[in-house]
Amino acid sequence: MVAVAVATTFTCGAEGIKVPPRAERMKWFTDARFGMFIHWGLYAEGARHEWLMGSAGIPVEEYERKYFRHFDPDLYDPEKWVSAAAAAGMKYIVLTTKHHEGFCLWDSKYTDYKATNTMAKRDLLRPFVDACHRHGIRVGFYYSLIDWHHPMYIIDGCNGPYHRRPEEERARMNVGRDQKVYDQYVRNQVKELLSGYGPVDVMWFDFSFPAKNEADRLDFTKGKGREAWESEKLWELVKGINPNIIIDDRMDLPEAADIKTPEQFQPGQMLVDEKGEPIPWEACQTFSGSWGYHRDEQTWRTSGELIRTLIDCVSKNGNLLLNVGPTARGEFDSRAMERLEAIGRWMSRHSDSIYGCGPAPKGVKTPHGCALTYNKEKNRLYVHLLSWPYSAVYFEDMADKIEYARFLNDHSEILFSFEPWQMEKAQVPANTAILRVPNTPPVGVEVPVIEIFLKD
Ligand code: GLC
Repeated sequence: MVAVAVATTFTCGAEGIKVPPRAERMKWFTDARFGMFIHWGLYAEGARHEWLMGSAGIPVEEYERKYFRHFDPDLYDPEKWVSAAAAAGMKYIVLTTKHHEGFCLWDSKYTDYKATNTMAKRDLLRPFVDACHRHGIRVGFYYSLIDWHHPMYIIDGCNGPYHRRPEEERARMNVGRDQKVYDQYVRNQVKELLSGYGPVDVMWFDFSFPAKNEADRLDFTKGKGREAWESEKLWELVKGINPNIIIDDRMDLPEAADIKTPEQFQPGQMLVDEKGEPIPWEACQTFSGSWGYHRDEQTWRTSGELIRTLIDCVSKNGNLLLNVGPTARGEFDSRAMERLEAIGRWMSRHSDSIYGCGPAPKGVKTPHGCALTYNKEKNRLYVHLLSWPYSAVYFEDMADKIEYARFLNDHSEILFSFEPWQMEKAQVPANTAILRVPNTPPVGVEVPVIEIFLKD
Protein backbone atom coordinates (compact mmCIF):
# COMPACT_ATOMS: atom_id res chain seq x y z
CA MET A 1 0.00 0.00 0.00
CA VAL A 2 1.09 3.55 -0.56
CA ALA A 3 1.62 5.73 2.47
CA VAL A 4 2.22 9.42 2.71
CA ALA A 5 4.93 10.41 5.15
CA VAL A 6 5.09 13.86 6.63
CA ALA A 7 5.65 16.93 4.52
CA THR A 8 9.02 16.29 2.91
CA THR A 9 9.06 12.64 1.93
CA PHE A 10 6.77 10.28 0.17
CA THR A 11 7.32 6.62 0.94
CA CYS A 12 6.31 3.88 -1.40
CA GLY A 13 6.86 0.19 -0.74
CA ALA A 14 9.09 -1.37 1.87
CA GLU A 15 12.35 0.34 1.00
CA GLY A 16 10.80 3.80 1.27
CA ILE A 17 12.35 5.95 -1.37
CA LYS A 18 13.17 9.45 -0.13
CA VAL A 19 11.99 12.14 -2.42
CA PRO A 20 12.83 15.84 -1.95
CA PRO A 21 9.93 18.14 -1.01
CA ARG A 22 7.53 18.72 -3.85
CA ALA A 23 7.70 22.52 -3.86
CA GLU A 24 11.49 22.46 -4.18
CA ARG A 25 11.57 19.71 -6.79
CA MET A 26 8.88 21.35 -8.86
CA LYS A 27 10.00 24.97 -8.74
CA TRP A 28 11.37 24.89 -12.32
CA PHE A 29 8.05 23.42 -13.47
CA THR A 30 5.72 25.86 -11.76
CA ASP A 31 7.94 28.74 -12.90
CA ALA A 32 7.97 27.50 -16.50
CA ARG A 33 4.18 27.39 -16.88
CA PHE A 34 4.28 26.55 -20.57
CA GLY A 35 5.36 23.36 -22.32
CA MET A 36 4.81 21.45 -25.53
CA PHE A 37 3.27 18.02 -25.85
CA ILE A 38 4.24 16.05 -28.95
CA HIS A 39 2.26 13.03 -30.11
CA TRP A 40 4.16 11.24 -32.82
CA GLY A 41 3.98 7.64 -33.89
CA LEU A 42 2.79 5.38 -36.70
CA TYR A 43 -0.72 6.83 -36.32
CA ALA A 44 0.54 10.00 -38.02
CA GLU A 45 0.30 7.99 -41.26
CA GLY A 46 -3.38 7.14 -40.71
CA ALA A 47 -3.75 10.88 -40.05
CA ARG A 48 -7.07 10.47 -38.29
CA HIS A 49 -6.40 10.39 -34.54
CA GLU A 50 -3.85 8.47 -32.51
CA TRP A 51 -6.56 6.06 -31.32
CA LEU A 52 -7.10 4.87 -34.87
CA MET A 53 -5.93 1.32 -34.15
CA GLY A 54 -8.43 0.98 -31.32
CA SER A 55 -11.35 2.95 -32.69
CA ALA A 56 -11.23 1.41 -36.17
CA GLY A 57 -10.46 -2.02 -34.71
CA ILE A 58 -7.36 -2.60 -36.85
CA PRO A 59 -5.73 -5.92 -35.87
CA VAL A 60 -2.04 -5.92 -34.97
CA GLU A 61 -0.84 -7.61 -38.19
CA GLU A 62 -2.76 -5.28 -40.43
CA TYR A 63 -1.57 -2.20 -38.51
CA GLU A 64 2.00 -3.40 -38.86
CA ARG A 65 1.54 -4.13 -42.54
CA LYS A 66 0.18 -0.69 -43.24
CA TYR A 67 1.93 1.68 -40.93
CA PHE A 68 5.05 0.00 -39.52
CA ARG A 69 6.15 -1.05 -42.99
CA HIS A 70 5.58 2.38 -44.55
CA PHE A 71 6.81 4.69 -41.82
CA ASP A 72 9.24 7.01 -43.55
CA PRO A 73 9.79 10.29 -41.68
CA ASP A 74 12.19 11.70 -44.25
CA LEU A 75 11.78 15.32 -43.14
CA TYR A 76 12.25 14.70 -39.43
CA ASP A 77 14.50 17.34 -37.93
CA PRO A 78 14.07 17.64 -34.15
CA GLU A 79 16.15 20.81 -34.18
CA LYS A 80 13.20 22.44 -35.97
CA TRP A 81 10.68 21.08 -33.45
CA VAL A 82 12.66 22.28 -30.49
CA SER A 83 13.37 25.71 -32.02
CA ALA A 84 9.65 26.13 -32.74
CA ALA A 85 8.79 25.29 -29.13
CA ALA A 86 11.49 27.59 -27.75
CA ALA A 87 10.39 30.45 -30.01
CA ALA A 88 6.81 30.00 -28.78
CA GLY A 89 8.10 30.49 -25.23
CA MET A 90 7.78 26.88 -24.15
CA LYS A 91 10.24 25.70 -21.51
CA TYR A 92 9.79 21.93 -21.67
CA ILE A 93 8.62 19.28 -24.11
CA VAL A 94 6.91 15.99 -23.39
CA LEU A 95 7.24 13.53 -26.27
CA THR A 96 5.40 10.23 -26.76
CA THR A 97 8.17 7.64 -26.64
CA LYS A 98 5.48 4.97 -27.06
CA HIS A 99 1.73 5.50 -27.44
CA HIS A 100 -1.13 2.99 -27.06
CA GLU A 101 -0.23 1.45 -30.44
CA GLY A 102 2.96 0.11 -28.79
CA PHE A 103 5.44 1.44 -31.35
CA CYS A 104 8.69 2.75 -29.87
CA LEU A 105 10.50 5.80 -31.17
CA TRP A 106 13.78 4.69 -29.63
CA ASP A 107 16.11 1.76 -30.17
CA SER A 108 14.78 -0.36 -27.32
CA LYS A 109 16.52 -3.65 -26.83
CA TYR A 110 13.29 -5.19 -25.54
CA THR A 111 11.29 -5.06 -28.78
CA ASP A 112 11.59 -5.12 -32.56
CA TYR A 113 8.62 -2.81 -32.89
CA LYS A 114 10.72 0.32 -33.03
CA ALA A 115 11.85 3.14 -35.30
CA THR A 116 15.17 1.45 -35.98
CA ASN A 117 13.35 -1.26 -37.93
CA THR A 118 11.33 1.12 -40.10
CA MET A 119 12.51 3.09 -43.10
CA ALA A 120 13.73 5.66 -40.55
CA LYS A 121 16.46 3.14 -39.67
CA ARG A 122 17.50 5.00 -36.55
CA ASP A 123 16.67 5.94 -32.99
CA LEU A 124 14.40 8.98 -33.32
CA LEU A 125 14.41 9.87 -29.66
CA ARG A 126 18.08 10.55 -29.15
CA PRO A 127 18.45 13.48 -31.58
CA PHE A 128 15.29 14.97 -30.09
CA VAL A 129 16.62 14.80 -26.54
CA ASP A 130 19.97 16.21 -27.69
CA ALA A 131 18.23 19.14 -29.39
CA CYS A 132 16.27 19.86 -26.20
CA HIS A 133 19.41 19.84 -24.10
CA ARG A 134 21.16 22.14 -26.58
CA HIS A 135 18.30 24.65 -26.31
CA GLY A 136 18.01 24.43 -22.52
CA ILE A 137 14.55 22.91 -22.88
CA ARG A 138 13.57 20.40 -20.20
CA VAL A 139 12.66 16.91 -21.36
CA GLY A 140 9.59 14.85 -20.54
CA PHE A 141 8.83 11.31 -21.69
CA TYR A 142 5.25 10.22 -22.28
CA TYR A 143 5.03 6.46 -21.96
CA SER A 144 1.80 4.62 -22.61
CA LEU A 145 0.94 2.01 -20.00
CA ILE A 146 -1.67 0.77 -22.43
CA ASP A 147 -0.10 -1.34 -25.18
CA TRP A 148 -2.30 -2.75 -27.96
CA HIS A 149 0.62 -4.45 -29.64
CA HIS A 150 2.48 -6.37 -26.93
CA PRO A 151 1.81 -10.13 -27.10
CA MET A 152 1.63 -10.50 -23.30
CA TYR A 153 -0.70 -7.57 -22.62
CA ILE A 154 -4.13 -8.76 -21.50
CA ILE A 155 -6.77 -7.79 -24.04
CA ASP A 156 -9.70 -6.04 -22.38
CA GLY A 157 -13.19 -5.02 -23.33
CA CYS A 158 -12.50 -1.34 -22.76
CA ASN A 159 -10.18 -0.18 -25.53
CA GLY A 160 -7.83 -1.44 -28.21
CA PRO A 161 -8.37 -3.14 -31.56
CA TYR A 162 -10.30 -6.12 -30.17
CA HIS A 163 -12.46 -4.54 -27.50
CA ARG A 164 -15.62 -4.86 -29.56
CA ARG A 165 -15.02 -8.53 -30.39
CA PRO A 166 -17.21 -11.11 -28.55
CA GLU A 167 -16.00 -11.93 -25.06
CA GLU A 168 -15.29 -15.59 -25.94
CA GLU A 169 -13.07 -14.55 -28.79
CA ARG A 170 -11.11 -12.20 -26.54
CA ALA A 171 -10.82 -14.97 -23.95
CA ARG A 172 -9.29 -17.22 -26.62
CA MET A 173 -6.88 -14.51 -27.64
CA ASN A 174 -5.85 -14.07 -24.02
CA VAL A 175 -4.69 -17.66 -23.64
CA GLY A 176 -0.96 -17.61 -22.93
CA ARG A 177 -0.87 -13.88 -22.26
CA ASP A 178 0.57 -12.73 -18.95
CA GLN A 179 0.26 -9.17 -17.73
CA LYS A 180 3.13 -9.67 -15.27
CA VAL A 181 5.49 -10.35 -18.16
CA TYR A 182 4.25 -7.18 -19.82
CA ASP A 183 4.82 -5.22 -16.59
CA GLN A 184 8.43 -6.35 -16.53
CA TYR A 185 8.73 -5.17 -20.14
CA VAL A 186 7.41 -1.76 -19.07
CA ARG A 187 9.94 -1.53 -16.24
CA ASN A 188 12.76 -2.60 -18.54
CA GLN A 189 11.83 0.02 -21.08
CA VAL A 190 11.33 2.78 -18.54
CA LYS A 191 14.72 1.99 -17.04
CA GLU A 192 16.23 2.10 -20.50
CA LEU A 193 14.59 5.47 -21.17
CA LEU A 194 15.66 6.97 -17.87
CA SER A 195 19.23 5.76 -17.95
CA GLY A 196 20.19 6.07 -21.59
CA TYR A 197 19.18 9.59 -22.63
CA GLY A 198 20.63 12.03 -20.14
CA PRO A 199 18.50 13.94 -17.64
CA VAL A 200 14.74 13.45 -17.95
CA ASP A 201 12.59 15.85 -15.95
CA VAL A 202 9.06 14.55 -16.39
CA MET A 203 7.67 11.04 -16.71
CA TRP A 204 4.18 11.07 -18.15
CA PHE A 205 2.41 7.69 -17.84
CA ASP A 206 -0.90 7.18 -19.63
CA PHE A 207 -3.43 5.91 -18.46
CA SER A 208 -5.43 3.82 -15.98
CA PHE A 209 -9.02 2.69 -16.31
CA PRO A 210 -9.70 0.46 -13.28
CA ALA A 211 -12.67 -1.90 -13.41
CA LYS A 212 -15.89 -0.24 -12.29
CA ASN A 213 -16.55 -2.85 -9.57
CA GLU A 214 -13.99 -3.09 -6.81
CA ALA A 215 -14.34 -6.91 -6.92
CA ASP A 216 -13.12 -6.95 -10.53
CA ARG A 217 -9.91 -5.03 -9.94
CA LEU A 218 -7.76 -8.07 -10.54
CA ASP A 219 -9.61 -9.06 -13.68
CA PHE A 220 -7.61 -7.12 -16.26
CA THR A 221 -10.07 -7.94 -19.02
CA LYS A 222 -12.47 -5.56 -17.26
CA GLY A 223 -10.13 -2.67 -16.65
CA LYS A 224 -6.62 -1.79 -15.60
CA GLY A 225 -5.46 0.16 -12.60
CA ARG A 226 -2.45 0.06 -10.30
CA GLU A 227 -2.65 -3.74 -9.95
CA ALA A 228 -2.43 -4.19 -13.71
CA TRP A 229 0.65 -1.99 -14.07
CA GLU A 230 2.24 -2.88 -10.71
CA SER A 231 2.34 0.85 -10.29
CA GLU A 232 4.11 0.91 -6.92
CA LYS A 233 7.07 -0.99 -8.37
CA LEU A 234 7.12 1.26 -11.38
CA TRP A 235 6.99 4.36 -9.20
CA GLU A 236 9.87 3.06 -7.10
CA LEU A 237 11.92 2.31 -10.17
CA VAL A 238 11.44 5.81 -11.58
CA LYS A 239 12.04 7.69 -8.33
CA GLY A 240 14.93 5.37 -7.52
CA ILE A 241 16.67 6.49 -10.69
CA ASN A 242 15.74 10.13 -10.31
CA PRO A 243 14.04 11.29 -7.09
CA ASN A 244 13.57 14.76 -8.56
CA ILE A 245 11.56 13.66 -11.55
CA ILE A 246 7.95 14.81 -11.87
CA ILE A 247 5.37 12.05 -12.39
CA ASP A 248 1.80 12.63 -13.59
CA ASP A 249 -1.37 11.27 -12.03
CA ARG A 250 -2.35 8.51 -14.42
CA MET A 251 -0.80 5.40 -12.92
CA ASP A 252 -3.63 5.08 -10.40
CA LEU A 253 -1.52 6.06 -7.39
CA PRO A 254 -3.30 9.26 -6.39
CA GLU A 255 -1.11 9.84 -3.33
CA ALA A 256 2.05 9.69 -5.41
CA ALA A 257 1.01 12.02 -8.21
CA ASP A 258 3.04 15.21 -8.54
CA ILE A 259 0.59 16.90 -10.89
CA LYS A 260 -3.03 16.67 -11.88
CA THR A 261 -3.54 16.54 -15.64
CA PRO A 262 -6.93 17.81 -16.83
CA GLU A 263 -7.26 17.31 -20.57
CA GLN A 264 -9.58 18.88 -23.11
CA PHE A 265 -11.17 21.11 -20.47
CA GLN A 266 -10.02 23.94 -18.21
CA PRO A 267 -10.52 23.71 -14.43
CA GLY A 268 -13.06 26.19 -13.13
CA GLN A 269 -10.70 27.41 -10.46
CA MET A 270 -7.40 26.79 -8.70
CA LEU A 271 -7.08 23.08 -7.82
CA VAL A 272 -6.67 22.30 -4.12
CA ASP A 273 -6.24 19.24 -1.92
CA GLU A 274 -8.55 18.15 0.92
CA LYS A 275 -6.90 20.70 3.20
CA GLY A 276 -7.53 23.48 0.71
CA GLU A 277 -3.83 23.72 -0.19
CA PRO A 278 -3.10 24.47 -3.85
CA ILE A 279 -1.82 21.51 -5.87
CA PRO A 280 0.27 21.75 -9.03
CA TRP A 281 -1.55 20.94 -12.24
CA GLU A 282 -0.97 20.94 -15.94
CA ALA A 283 -3.77 21.14 -18.48
CA CYS A 284 -2.91 19.33 -21.69
CA GLN A 285 -4.77 20.72 -24.67
CA THR A 286 -4.96 20.27 -28.41
CA PHE A 287 -5.20 22.72 -31.28
CA SER A 288 -8.21 20.91 -32.68
CA GLY A 289 -9.23 17.71 -30.91
CA SER A 290 -6.82 15.02 -31.97
CA TRP A 291 -3.40 14.57 -30.35
CA GLY A 292 -1.87 12.73 -33.27
CA TYR A 293 -1.72 14.44 -36.66
CA HIS A 294 -5.25 14.69 -38.07
CA ARG A 295 -5.29 15.80 -41.65
CA ASP A 296 -8.99 16.53 -42.06
CA GLU A 297 -9.91 18.04 -38.74
CA GLN A 298 -10.81 21.65 -39.46
CA THR A 299 -11.92 23.10 -36.12
CA TRP A 300 -8.60 24.54 -35.04
CA ARG A 301 -8.50 27.01 -32.17
CA THR A 302 -7.13 30.45 -32.98
CA SER A 303 -3.86 31.65 -31.52
CA GLY A 304 -5.81 34.24 -29.49
CA GLU A 305 -7.87 31.48 -27.89
CA LEU A 306 -4.73 29.52 -27.10
CA ILE A 307 -3.00 32.52 -25.54
CA ARG A 308 -6.08 33.13 -23.38
CA THR A 309 -5.99 29.46 -22.35
CA LEU A 310 -2.38 29.85 -21.22
CA ILE A 311 -3.34 32.94 -19.20
CA ASP A 312 -6.30 31.08 -17.74
CA CYS A 313 -3.99 28.27 -16.57
CA VAL A 314 -1.52 30.61 -14.88
CA SER A 315 -4.29 32.66 -13.26
CA LYS A 316 -5.48 29.41 -11.64
CA ASN A 317 -2.01 28.22 -10.65
CA GLY A 318 -1.60 25.73 -13.50
CA ASN A 319 0.65 24.99 -16.46
CA LEU A 320 -0.34 24.54 -20.09
CA LEU A 321 1.04 21.65 -22.12
CA LEU A 322 0.00 22.46 -25.66
CA ASN A 323 0.05 19.60 -28.12
CA VAL A 324 1.46 19.33 -31.62
CA GLY A 325 0.95 16.23 -33.76
CA PRO A 326 3.73 16.16 -36.38
CA THR A 327 3.02 14.63 -39.79
CA ALA A 328 4.23 11.21 -40.88
CA ARG A 329 7.11 12.91 -42.70
CA GLY A 330 8.18 14.36 -39.37
CA GLU A 331 7.15 17.97 -39.71
CA PHE A 332 4.93 20.37 -37.79
CA ASP A 333 2.28 21.34 -40.33
CA SER A 334 1.57 24.94 -41.32
CA ARG A 335 -1.51 25.24 -39.10
CA ALA A 336 0.54 24.37 -36.04
CA MET A 337 3.44 26.58 -37.09
CA GLU A 338 1.19 29.60 -37.65
CA ARG A 339 -0.21 29.29 -34.15
CA LEU A 340 3.12 28.66 -32.48
CA GLU A 341 4.56 31.72 -34.19
CA ALA A 342 1.66 33.91 -33.11
CA ILE A 343 1.95 32.67 -29.53
CA GLY A 344 5.70 33.36 -29.73
CA ARG A 345 5.07 36.94 -30.88
CA TRP A 346 2.87 37.51 -27.86
CA MET A 347 5.22 35.72 -25.46
CA SER A 348 8.23 37.71 -26.64
CA ARG A 349 6.71 40.79 -25.00
CA HIS A 350 4.41 39.32 -22.38
CA SER A 351 6.17 36.36 -20.82
CA ASP A 352 6.72 38.44 -17.65
CA SER A 353 3.05 37.83 -16.89
CA ILE A 354 3.52 34.05 -17.34
CA TYR A 355 6.91 32.80 -16.11
CA GLY A 356 7.22 32.65 -12.35
CA CYS A 357 3.61 33.79 -11.99
CA GLY A 358 0.55 32.36 -10.32
CA PRO A 359 -2.85 33.52 -9.15
CA ALA A 360 -3.46 36.97 -7.69
CA PRO A 361 -3.08 37.25 -3.91
CA LYS A 362 -6.14 36.26 -1.89
CA GLY A 363 -8.77 38.94 -1.71
CA VAL A 364 -7.77 40.79 -4.90
CA LYS A 365 -10.91 41.19 -6.99
CA THR A 366 -10.55 40.52 -10.71
CA PRO A 367 -11.80 43.53 -12.71
CA HIS A 368 -14.56 42.94 -15.24
CA GLY A 369 -13.38 41.24 -18.47
CA CYS A 370 -9.87 40.58 -17.13
CA ALA A 371 -7.69 37.75 -15.88
CA LEU A 372 -5.02 38.33 -13.24
CA THR A 373 -1.65 36.74 -12.67
CA TYR A 374 0.86 37.66 -10.02
CA ASN A 375 4.61 37.39 -9.56
CA LYS A 376 5.23 36.95 -5.87
CA GLU A 377 9.00 37.49 -6.02
CA LYS A 378 8.64 40.78 -7.88
CA ASN A 379 5.37 41.76 -6.19
CA ARG A 380 3.84 42.66 -9.53
CA LEU A 381 0.31 42.07 -10.68
CA TYR A 382 -0.63 41.49 -14.31
CA VAL A 383 -4.02 42.55 -15.63
CA HIS A 384 -4.84 40.75 -18.88
CA LEU A 385 -7.47 42.63 -20.85
CA LEU A 386 -9.50 39.85 -22.42
CA SER A 387 -11.92 42.33 -23.93
CA TRP A 388 -11.24 45.99 -24.56
CA PRO A 389 -12.81 48.31 -21.97
CA TYR A 390 -14.28 51.74 -22.68
CA SER A 391 -11.54 54.11 -21.48
CA ALA A 392 -11.03 52.64 -18.01
CA VAL A 393 -10.54 49.51 -15.97
CA TYR A 394 -12.07 49.74 -12.52
CA PHE A 395 -9.91 47.93 -10.03
CA GLU A 396 -11.64 47.77 -6.67
CA ASP A 397 -9.75 48.12 -3.39
CA MET A 398 -6.53 48.87 -5.20
CA ALA A 399 -6.21 52.65 -5.13
CA ASP A 400 -3.94 52.59 -2.09
CA LYS A 401 -1.87 49.65 -3.31
CA ILE A 402 -0.61 50.64 -6.75
CA GLU A 403 2.83 52.20 -7.06
CA TYR A 404 3.08 52.35 -10.86
CA ALA A 405 1.35 50.83 -13.88
CA ARG A 406 2.39 50.26 -17.50
CA PHE A 407 1.57 48.24 -20.59
CA LEU A 408 3.82 45.24 -20.97
CA ASN A 409 4.09 45.39 -24.75
CA ASP A 410 5.87 48.78 -24.82
CA HIS A 411 6.31 49.74 -21.16
CA SER A 412 4.20 52.85 -21.73
CA GLU A 413 2.77 54.38 -18.60
CA ILE A 414 -0.85 53.75 -17.62
CA LEU A 415 -2.27 56.67 -15.71
CA PHE A 416 -4.52 55.85 -12.85
CA SER A 417 -6.71 58.01 -10.75
CA PHE A 418 -9.22 57.77 -8.02
CA GLU A 419 -10.69 61.19 -7.64
CA PRO A 420 -13.87 61.40 -5.63
CA TRP A 421 -15.86 63.10 -8.40
CA GLN A 422 -15.02 60.32 -10.87
CA MET A 423 -15.87 57.62 -8.44
CA GLU A 424 -19.16 59.23 -7.68
CA LYS A 425 -20.11 59.67 -11.35
CA ALA A 426 -19.05 56.16 -12.24
CA GLN A 427 -20.55 54.87 -9.03
CA VAL A 428 -17.51 52.88 -8.03
CA PRO A 429 -16.73 52.07 -4.41
CA ALA A 430 -14.14 54.08 -2.49
CA ASN A 431 -10.55 52.91 -2.94
CA THR A 432 -11.18 51.80 -6.55
CA ALA A 433 -8.24 52.46 -8.88
CA ILE A 434 -9.30 53.74 -12.29
CA LEU A 435 -6.74 52.55 -14.85
CA ARG A 436 -6.92 54.78 -17.94
CA VAL A 437 -6.62 52.98 -21.26
CA PRO A 438 -6.53 54.47 -24.78
CA ASN A 439 -9.49 54.29 -27.15
CA THR A 440 -8.09 51.36 -29.01
CA PRO A 441 -5.93 48.44 -27.94
CA PRO A 442 -2.22 48.44 -28.79
CA VAL A 443 -1.86 47.38 -32.42
CA GLY A 444 -0.91 43.78 -33.07
CA VAL A 445 -1.17 42.72 -29.44
CA GLU A 446 -3.43 39.68 -29.11
CA VAL A 447 -4.06 40.15 -25.38
CA PRO A 448 -2.90 43.49 -23.90
CA VAL A 449 -1.45 43.29 -20.39
CA ILE A 450 -1.06 45.99 -17.74
CA GLU A 451 1.79 45.41 -15.35
CA ILE A 452 1.19 46.84 -11.90
CA PHE A 453 4.00 47.46 -9.42
CA LEU A 454 2.44 47.03 -6.01
CA LYS A 455 3.51 49.06 -3.00
CA ASP A 456 5.52 47.02 -0.50
C1 GLC B 1 -5.61 10.33 -23.40
C2 GLC B 1 -5.52 9.59 -24.70
C3 GLC B 1 -4.36 9.88 -25.48
C4 GLC B 1 -3.59 11.12 -25.25
C5 GLC B 1 -3.65 11.62 -23.85
C6 GLC B 1 -3.10 13.00 -23.67
O1 GLC B 1 -5.33 9.60 -22.32
O2 GLC B 1 -5.66 8.22 -24.55
O3 GLC B 1 -4.49 9.54 -26.80
O4 GLC B 1 -2.29 10.77 -25.43
O5 GLC B 1 -4.88 11.53 -23.34
O6 GLC B 1 -3.42 13.54 -22.45
